[in-house]
Amino acid sequence: MRYQFLFISLLLASVTWATEVKSPNGNIVLNFTIEDGRPTYTLSYKGKEVVRPSHLGLELARDKHASMGMNERDLMDGFTLVKEETSTFDETWQPVWGETRDIRNHYAEYAAVLQQQWLSAPPAQDGQQLQPRRHQRTMLIRFRVYDDGIGFRYEFPQQADLNYFLIKDERTEFAMAGDHTAWWLPGDYDTQEQETQETKLSEIRSRMHDAVNWGNSSVAVFSPTGVQTSLQMKSQAIDIDGEKRNLYINIHEAACADYATMHLELVDAQTKALSTKLEGSSNAYTPNPGPSAYPLPKPFTFVSHLTPDATGLKGAMQTPCKTPWRTIIVSDDARDMLSSNLILNLNEPCALDDTSWIHPTKYCGVWWEMIVGRGSWHYTNDFPSIKLDQIDWSKVKPNGTHKANNENVKRYIDFAAKNGLDQVLVEGWNVGWEDWANMWKRDVFDFQTPYPDFDIQMLNDYAHSKGVKLLMHHETSSSTQNYERHLEKAFQLMNKYGYDAVKTGYVGDIIPRGDHHYSQSMNNHYLYVVKEAAKHHIMVNAHEATRPTGLCRTYPNLVGNESARGTEYEAFGGSRPDHTCILPFTRLQGGPMDYTPGIFVTRLNTWSNNTSWARITIAGSLALYLTMYSPLQMAADLPENYEQFDDAFQFIRDVACDWDESIYLEAEPADYITVARKAKGTDNWFIGGKCDENGHQSVIRLDFLDKGRKYECTIYADAKDAHYETNPQAYTIKKRTVKKGDVLKINEAPGGGFAISLICTPTENRTRN
Ligand code: NOJ
Ligand code: CA
Repeated sequence: MRYQFLFISLLLASVTWATEVKSPNGNIVLNFTIEDGRPTYTLSYKGKEVVRPSHLGLELARDKHASMGMNERDLMDGFTLVKEETSTFDETWQPVWGETRDIRNHYAEYAAVLQQQWLSAPPAQDGQQLQPRRHQRTMLIRFRVYDDGIGFRYEFPQQADLNYFLIKDERTEFAMAGDHTAWWLPGDYDTQEQETQETKLSEIRSRMHDAVNWGNSSVAVFSPTGVQTSLQMKSQAIDIDGEKRNLYINIHEAACADYATMHLELVDAQTKALSTKLEGSSNAYTPNPGPSAYPLPKPFTFVSHLTPDATGLKGAMQTPCKTPWRTIIVSDDARDMLSSNLILNLNEPCALDDTSWIHPTKYCGVWWEMIVGRGSWHYTNDFPSIKLDQIDWSKVKPNGTHKANNENVKRYIDFAAKNGLDQVLVEGWNVGWEDWANMWKRDVFDFQTPYPDFDIQMLNDYAHSKGVKLLMHHETSSSTQNYERHLEKAFQLMNKYGYDAVKTGYVGDIIPRGDHHYSQSMNNHYLYVVKEAAKHHIMVNAHEATRPTGLCRTYPNLVGNESARGTEYEAFGGSRPDHTCILPFTRLQGGPMDYTPGIFVTRLNTWSNNTSWARITIAGSLALYLTMYSPLQMAADLPENYEQFDDAFQFIRDVACDWDESIYLEAEPADYITVARKAKGTDNWFIGGKCDENGHQSVIRLDFLDKGRKYECTIYADAKDAHYETNPQAYTIKKRTVKKGDVLKINEAPGGGFAISLICTPTENRTRN
């Protein structure tokens, strides 16, 4: 049945008032208004424009599954403001693990209660005109205005005219005030494992094709100007506080739960319409979204673009419900981008009653040798494919390259025990690796049956006898129904043998077929696994899952994610030296990354046939344990490689992975990052500095040390002639005693860095400042 919408004429009048909301220190100012019935906001920082007038809204699908069916109406226009709510909030909370012991959550809140009203007149039936029906809908837009940015979200109370609805796309706009420099990844529904591009906004389109990692196991690129969040930008220098300064602007999201991951599509001078095209090999049959019916915003405006599921729709909602927070972090000091807690603050407090079993973890693993290609995850080469229930593994011929074998695993356990590492990851321990990847095979693993040469009882007993745990591996091959079917038993098995952490993985196209890695249904899957794991006191580190949005505040057993291009790519052609100077500004905004640092032997052909090489010096590798914050840190290289450089490995033995305090001393995206961190529950500090291919001179004032105390300072630095390409293993280790106020000057080589430990010497009658 076709309905006509008759707008109540009152609502069409354009409204000129605006509400202004200031952050606690007044630096950030949000303006909200209704412009021709469309919710609109602007944002400024110290009086400078950050976001120009930008519309807010969602297009909804006319679909039989929506309560209003084919009569569904968009949440885009025809709004009036019926109520405003303002409040302030100031609370300090303690994360279970983190960069600091205390986090202050201080903001001004503003909620706009909006109403849409219209009359729908059904067409005449049997010559009789039916009475028009009056519809009324309420939607809230809630803003939180912090000193370092804002978060806002849409909220949908339960109501007769907004019950079940389907999102065609969210149309949140972010109109930028200039042609900023941006550090971006191609917008993709299935992978985040690309090198970051650095271009002006106006150059995104021309760079896009070369920016895509077309060879990745899943690629679904949605637009020639589509980028991922977290997106870091930098404005041209402008006058701020009487000086020429740049604005650093970051767009991301917080608390993405039961909702699709957001991308951004840039409207540039060439944009004729928002994209409806999908390129790449991953689940390429996904229906394209229909064109948007609304006028295009001005060039330099980003428009939100959600990840669809197999239907091509972006979300199936039931009120009451809400979207994730859309976040904009802004400052004229790049260091503030890294110390911001805005995204964590916008997440809900911890949902777990007991968190005593969650702990920071340093681990090594039977992993790098397979990634590099010297060993295999699979056990036999005898079958073209396997069916899990049809193989008697005790009769199968081993291939001789399977690395998750008793002897090799024991070697890693011994290495971990000797060096104070907590856990040993073992990949390839379970049956199914013979034909695991990208076959769209549903029953690919059972997560319970070890290969015959992996004695699960013996190896766990052996590890425990040495004070070490094994770290479980569940590669799902993206067969999510299969994983959910086996999950309970898989976690029971972990509990039985004493595992308390699992690394999961989602390589290849998603099954159920047609779905995408970052869709609403997949985001629900990842969170389901985290919640089920918590019931079993298991910590989760998910690879290839969606990029984090601070959910680790609510579920602190989510101790890590990959969700970007990790160290594995050093074995797949390498990553640029500035890669790790960008990730903290982008990928790490939403939560820690299992980057798996620590490669000491960077030329892989010295111990394998792999001709790839890691673009980093040894001192630079040490720095990553500080600059890439994570409560889960791997020492990824082989034990025999570390044994060649045992004096440098001492830093990995010593460094903490949980902190009372963190101070970003120097930072510039893609150039350098220097951070000092105070180890949790101690008076010891660690400092790390990492730079790009140009090298960096770091000047560190030890102002943050306790007055009147002495510290044993060990400096692991690049040697004078060190270079990530020609001389990566040249480092110096110097020791001296330091005190508050001393200054350290350290030279970072191209692609290098440094690491410092400051161990507090016991003193009596010390004076604290
Ligand atoms: C990709 C992960 O990132 C990597 O760490 C893992 O070894 C492989 N998948 C196999 O699961
Ligand atoms: Ca990966």
